[in-house]
Amino acid sequence: MAEKDTELMKGEIIVKDPSKLRLKPNLQDYNGLRKSFKWADAEKMVDWFPGGKINAAYNVLDRHAKGKNADKLALIYDDGAGTVKKYTFKQLNDEANKFANVLKKLGVKRQDRVFVFLQRTVECYASFLGAIKYGAIASPMFPAFGPDAIKDRLLDSSAVVLVTDPELKKRFYQVKNDLPDLKHLIVVGEDNPPAGELSYSKEMATASKEFETVPMDPEEFMFMLYTSGTTGKPKGVVHAHKGIVQQTLTTRWVLDVHDDDIYWCTADIGWVTGVVYGVLGPWSNGITQIGLGGRFDPETWYKTIQNYKITVWYTAPTAVRMLMAKGDELPAKYDLSSLRALYSVGEPLNPEGVKWALEVFDSKPFHDTWWQTETGSILITNFPEMPIKPGSMGKPLPGVEAAIVDENGDVLPQGEEGSLVLKPGWPSMMRQIWKNPAKYNEYMRNDWYYTGDTAQIDKDGYFWYVGRADDVIKTSGERVGPFEVESALIEHPAVAEAGVIGKPDQLRGNIIKAFIVLTPGHTESDELKVEIQKFVKTRLAGHAYPREIDVVKTLPKTRSGKIMRRLLRARELGLPIGDTSTLED
Ligand code: WT7
Repeated sequence: MAEKDTELMKGEIIVKDPSKLRLKPNLQDYNGLRKSFKWADAEKMVDWFPGGKINAAYNVLDRHAKGKNADKLALIYDDGAGTVKKYTFKQLNDEANKFANVLKKLGVKRQDRVFVFLQRTVECYASFLGAIKYGAIASPMFPAFGPDAIKDRLLDSSAVVLVTDPELKKRFYQVKNDLPDLKHLIVVGEDNPPAGELSYSKEMATASKEFETVPMDPEEFMFMLYTSGTTGKPKGVVHAHKGIVQQTLTTRWVLDVHDDDIYWCTADIGWVTGVVYGVLGPWSNGITQIGLGGRFDPETWYKTIQNYKITVWYTAPTAVRMLMAKGDELPAKYDLSSLRALYSVGEPLNPEGVKWALEVFDSKPFHDTWWQTETGSILITNFPEMPIKPGSMGKPLPGVEAAIVDENGDVLPQGEEGSLVLKPGWPSMMRQIWKNPAKYNEYMRNDWYYTGDTAQIDKDGYFWYVGRADDVIKTSGERVGPFEVESALIEHPAVAEAGVIGKPDQLRGNIIKAFIVLTPGHTESDELKVEIQKFVKTRLAGHAYPREIDVVKTLPKTRSGKIMRRLLRARELGLPIGDTSTLED
């Protein structure tokens, strides 16, 4: 068959000179490994209990706390406001053990849901990992979530415990009465808690540092994380303890961590990147991590790299674009020579971003990585060993079969655009959508796992992202469901109907754009739009509000009353409107 390169795939290639690499990459001979690799090989990278039992948190903490890494720094936490705290593996393990003992004292049951709604603090890490040690299902929530977002998650999962702080708990109280299953509210930084609350510090002060991490069946659940789809409320993506096998492997093979690395993942633990590559993977490999609090700020970021001598850096394309937009003089003021390997995830990384890094970070390119909340770890990626084609997501991990297929699940010829699918069977794959088998089954068709993305493969086997096949919006790399935003919008008294789409944006990848129909008695004004934006921000989430709002007379709907977002998008972007046979009028 003729080899084909599409318009998307044009461009140069960055070839790495092995003699110039500071360290030999952990993964060597990708092509050979694709043939010889077996998941059983990766299973040797983690510790198991007798009888084939495992606990992810044992691998993340105990095995280091009991071994040669006991006094090695696990976490250097800089709150971004001048306070720095350091924890060794032993100390962090002690904190997690204490938290596990708190859960024990409260009578929390195995596989109960324990939610952590905290800023990126040591308490956040300790409670998340303590819950996993204990055998509960841990679930972090992004601190930007408003009461609606919190309620959806705690209610759907029948959460039993919530760990939060005095500021964030206010949002919980707005929806508390709707959450009868929630038994324990543990508040960090509240020494004299009102009735109905427990003080984190008081409970921890009397808890023992000794805890036997619970051996779990590899298929028992470790953590869950809610993510957005096209329809309905966010869905609970559930991951099993066995996922740690692949999380450990990919951190070693892709992020290429070595013992002396100082590693920095910029993602919040409320997102899957923050969980998997800001907690599980790096610590399972015994690596020292930097945690940075506060908001994104280019100067602080460069300073962080310089001051802590970061060697491995995992971030997001929007952050890269924001740094680029700040210009090249700023990074030139800092010594960024410690950096060895750079990675990004969450949305397409523009070729410009990859090449910009070459200039600013002393010939080190960004490596784009592709995965999803559902996949539990990196599946398609640029490996340190491999040449980079800027703009491409790279190649599948050894052990992972990825393809481009049509609607029938038939594999398309090289160069064709189609659905990006994966052969199920990798260890970190989600195990279920919480209490919603129908939703889970929607992913599985024709013996493939459908990712919801469209892509192409080039003649050298590199994967190129084309877009989403559904209405899911990726804004600043964060995943937002149009339905959630629409639901929040129509809670506002002035909004009768709403349709929400992603609109391409230079900086953020996409922004959220809403089309609304006003209720009688309201007239369009800038003030009203600002008020509606604020409303969504506080009800739903700080990042998931429409940056643009258009007031319209009617929304295009199907005869069954569903809003046709596809038409809104086509109209907005001047695209062909396609099939309208199901349109209402
Ligand atoms: C969706 C998953 C898992 C980390 C954060 C995102 C998009 C992810 C890339 C990439 C283009 C990407 C896809 C995917 N995405 N990585 N390298 N290039 N798009 O996880 O929130 O579950 O979103 O993010 O559309 O399906 P998520």
